Amino acid sequence: MSAKSRWADDDPETEAIVAQQKREKEEKRRAKAEKQRQLEEKEKKKKNNDENTQAAINGESGPPKKRLRLSNDPDAPPTTAEVDQQDRKKQSSLLRFPVREWGPCRHVDNFERLNHIEEGSYGWVSRAKDINTGEVVALKKLKIENSPDGFPVTGLREIQTLLEARHSNVVYLREVVMGNKMDDVFLVMDFLEHDLKTLLDEMREPFLPSEIKTLLLQVVGGLEFLHAQWIMHRDLKTSNLLMNNRGEIKIADFGMARYYGDPPPKLTQLVVTLWYRSPELLLGADKYGTEVDMWSIGCIFGELLTKEPLLQGKNEVDQVSQIFALTGPPNSQSWPGFRSLPNAKSLRFPPSAPAPSSSGSLPLLPRSRFPYLTNAGLGLLSSLLALNPAARPSAQQCLAHPYFREDPRPKPREMFPTFPSKAGMEKRRRHHTPEAPRRGQEAPELDFAGVFGGAPGGDTGEVGAGFTLRLG
Ligand SMILES: Nc1ncnc2c1ncn2[C@@H]1O[C@H](COP(=O)(O)OP(=O)(O)OP(=O)(O)O)[C@@H](O)[C@H]1O
Ligand SMILES: [Mg+2]
Repeated sequence: MSAKSRWADDDPETEAIVAQQKREKEEKRRAKAEKQRQLEEKEKKKKNNDENTQAAINGESGPPKKRLRLSNDPDAPPTTAEVDQQDRKKQSSLLRFPVREWGPCRHVDNFERLNHIEEGSYGWVSRAKDINTGEVVALKKLKIENSPDGFPVTGLREIQTLLEARHSNVVYLREVVMGNKMDDVFLVMDFLEHDLKTLLDEMREPFLPSEIKTLLLQVVGGLEFLHAQWIMHRDLKTSNLLMNNRGEIKIADFGMARYYGDPPPKLTQLVVTLWYRSPELLLGADKYGTEVDMWSIGCIFGELLTKEPLLQGKNEVDQVSQIFALTGPPNSQSWPGFRSLPNAKSLRFPPSAPAPSSSGSLPLLPRSRFPYLTNAGLGLLSSLLALNPAARPSAQQCLAHPYFREDPRPKPREMFPTFPSKAGMEKRRRHHTPEAPRRGQEAPELDFAGVFGGAPGGDTGEVGAGFTLRLG
């Protein structure tokens, strides 16, 4: 049977109309099928979206969905990728400042006390173990009882400066913890096995020249960093220099440290433990700078060489006597302006004092006191112990001194000998060194008339008497 219309053969025009109707019908059928497919697709997408939203609500993770931009329409909202990029641009053009996070201090119960190490002027130090991590630390309980303002300014300065002074040669303050009472405040620091004072007391022989160079380079390196941060330490001495069994040195005890400015502000003169105190402080200067730390470095250098503190004055007057005995007395050429310092007025020089040298070069300390030191070493020591603060090298200049580059070279830290640690084992005896000055105490009025062996002077009445000035 033919599929042709009954009228197909009848009329070609009719035949064309029928074919057209057939095409249209076919077209409609295809459009309907396409519409149905699109509808199904839409349904499927909606279902997927609902599932993702539910997953997000439930906290399930999945790859983040990025919104795709479908046109270049400038009013269209930016895509996530574009927002990210803009944020990054914004961040790099903004100045960012570190914001310190504040939080409650932990309780000291988190530490188990192992042994007492030392009682200093400003705190009790013990070795302790962090119960949570098992790490051994040093705990310094601040002495608060004698502070009329509630909290000792020495403690505040110690915390503030130690938090700022992050350097490999400065002791690391881990955190501050509290006890049950408001005045139970403890500094938690990295534990170091030795302080240089105890170590020197225990050693039979002094350090080797190569070891002294390594020690000095580290201390002065730490000090250079402090001075660059505008921090003066103001109590450098061997008992405040800690050393571990890997030959590393860290500057500690920031109770006297403070920020300074340029020009220097008026400051208290009663700083630095007597034996390490500079002549300008002893003569009453209230404007001074980082040179006071450089003088202390000179004293420490001398102590490392001989194993004994260099200038062991019994009091301020005796200290000045001992300084002048070592360096020779000052004159207006070697130390211009020293005469105007408050306590210099009472100084009476012996008639035999040498005429001011006209060479202008820094006088060397007597070689007989340091027989094994090289010329370069003696030059550095003499400049650190220059009476005139302006003639002392800065920490940076000190590090560049030829002494550190001549043989014997500084010993690598890993080659350093190890020593048994007293701090790690037992309660130690007190050092026989003067105490750090007490804060808030007035500098005493001093009569230096007896410095050169003359009249009374000093609080014993005989200090300086019998003292022969070494002029050479
Ligand atoms: N982190 C530490 N690791 C090991 N021992 C330490 C540590 N900190 C301090 N010590 C020991 O405790 C002693 C006293 O500490 P520190 O100098 O901080 O206290 P201080 O009360 O300010 O002392 P002072 O006034 O006598 O100089 C140090 O000389 C050292 O022997
Ligand atoms: Mg100390």
